[in-house]
Amino acid sequence: MLAPTVEWQGETDGYLALLDQTLLPEKQLVLEHRELAGVIDSIKRLAVRGAPAIGVAAGYGMVVGVREAMATGQDFASAMDGTATLLHAARPTAVNLSWAVHRVHDRGRREPKLEALLAEARDIHKEDVALCLQIGEHGASLIRDGMRVLTHCNAGRLATSGDGTALAVFFAAHRQGRKFRVLADETRPLLQGSRLTALELAEEGIPVDVIADSAAAGLMARGEIDMVITGADRIAANGDVANKVGTYSVSLAAKAHGIPMYVAAPASTFDQAAASGKDIPIEDRDPDEVLNFGNQPVAAPGAGAKNPAFDLTPAENLAGLITDRGLISPVTREEIKALVFQDR
Ligand code: MRU
Repeated sequence: MLAPTVEWQGETDGYLALLDQTLLPEKQLVLEHRELAGVIDSIKRLAVRGAPAIGVAAGYGMVVGVREAMATGQDFASAMDGTATLLHAARPTAVNLSWAVHRVHDRGRREPKLEALLAEARDIHKEDVALCLQIGEHGASLIRDGMRVLTHCNAGRLATSGDGTALAVFFAAHRQGRKFRVLADETRPLLQGSRLTALELAEEGIPVDVIADSAAAGLMARGEIDMVITGADRIAANGDVANKVGTYSVSLAAKAHGIPMYVAAPASTFDQAAASGKDIPIEDRDPDEVLNFGNQPVAAPGAGAKNPAFDLTPAENLAGLITDRGLISPVTREEIKALVFQDR
């Protein structure tokens, strides 16, 4: 049984507890953050990761940061601004981070007290749990008995505070008694697929096979993959999706083999300000993550590396988007506007 991905302990004098995902599956360590620097470090080094989980952690991070800044004599408004700026800069691609920070900041402008910030962060947390269940319900019927479904990275309980997004669909189909198999791309360089997705599915009794990322296209050609479902870090207004690097290649292979690919995400992952994928910032991470496998060097001394953490999948490669508000298929700007942006 895994500890909660993100949790707030206590009241406004409490702390943010994060399960350190860098150590999974070998070891469970819960980090206790009472200072903003610790929260930011956990987000940057992927101790907490996955777009919705980063959002929930950043919401609580506002409480930690504002409390700390006020203890040094800052007024509430500048403590909020400073904390928000630092959290925004922690990771650029997952829009849930800035969405959550804005939400808590807005609440603090209306009600300038720590209790209000914590209440808003708790609301974001509670809503995330419910949204995951709704995504699962809207996607479960896509999975039929006997299917072999590919996923990439980890869009599960470790990436949210509920059942996940892509994995929520698997958990819901499993609860409904459907028999299917998941293929989990290992997801180089940091192995979120083999370490985290495989762990979550195996814990739940859902059959899972880990594959090397480069095996996906060949398995599709052999007729051994029937569907693809992944999560997303940000979805542009036209349906282009930013997700873990490698998602784009999976989408190209799926399209070439006539295999439907779906992306599962809550409304908070859609960015109305990004007209298309070109407007989404892609995080470049430390080359050392590619040059090493854990602590073991795997490249020739002197070699450099490129390490984009995400890539862009064009909307036209997708059969649909599974959201908490329903299924969007086909993926068009109009359908997204009608379902996701109608209340913004
Ligand atoms: O770098 P990570 O591990 O934070 O990347 C996570 C992903 O790409 C997930 O697929 C995405 O955030 C969706 S999580 C429900």
